[in-house]
Amino acid sequence: MSPSRAKSNSAGKEFARTNAAAKYILARTKLRPRIGVVLGSGLGGFADELTSATRIPYARIPNFPRSTAVGHAGQLVVGKLRAKGGDIVVAAMQGRVHFYEGYPLSKVIFPMRVFSQMGIRAVILTNAAGGINRNYGQGALVVLSDHINLQGANPLIGANDERFGPRFPDMTQAYNRNFRKYALDEGGKLGMVIHEGVYAALAGPSYESPAEISYLATIGADLVGMSTVPEVIAARHMGLQVLGISCVTNMAAGILDQPLNHEEVLATGARVKDQFIALLRGVIPHIAAQTENAGKKR
Ligand code: HPA
Repeated sequence: MSPSRAKSNSAGKEFARTNAAAKYILARTKLRPRIGVVLGSGLGGFADELTSATRIPYARIPNFPRSTAVGHAGQLVVGKLRAKGGDIVVAAMQGRVHFYEGYPLSKVIFPMRVFSQMGIRAVILTNAAGGINRNYGQGALVVLSDHINLQGANPLIGANDERFGPRFPDMTQAYNRNFRKYALDEGGKLGMVIHEGVYAALAGPSYESPAEISYLATIGADLVGMSTVPEVIAARHMGLQVLGISCVTNMAAGILDQPLNHEEVLATGARVKDQFIALLRGVIPHIAAQTENAGKKR
């Protein structure tokens, strides 16, 4: 078999693999989410707010990757969020897998493809990030306006399966403008200062050097982290709408005269938990309404 033939077969298998995972999940709940949420390091508490919830450990879902990072519970929660105007069904991932864990990017984006096959049309991707922009403080919440992919790889490399999306997907509006506005408006109503910024994704797992951070500042990054961008690329490939939210768990290397550590990342996540949940609760009804309307137009 030629290499290109072998590749297209494996791309075809990925569709079947993600479909099997989606079917497994939908067979375990009567709920039908249209919104998916990925909860980053220390931010998993949002999923505990969901009612009538079905919790499925990643390890039970066929082909699903298992998260090894501390601060990631590793389960999918499908449940209802009590919100203004009624309950909204969401699927929330308590933790994700990262490139630095040694997974190929096809596994990192696997959950996005499962979400899509479950009928999900909008995703909220959250993460813990280092703050490069000096206007941010530790604990700040930042809505992503754009990203810079510096992971040295792209999750769509390899044969393209048109059932997921086109060969060359557009990234000019990767982060839905309306979703960004909902987040800024709702944050404002809650008396919170919500920033907007550009997120640079590096592979990790080492934190950046101060010289790397000054380079990232020069090229226009406000935030740095080790996740989210592959998922955004995969989500946009499939036409899912995206909202990205970073929690600045620490100022990036060299900005303050202190070393970085993962405990601090988790502690800041815990400190902003209530604000973060309130912001998601405020923004999700808007996203649900927009997603419903888009569905009706089709
Ligand atoms: N750098 C990269 N990833 C991160 C950071 C950081 O400073 N903080 C939380 N995730």
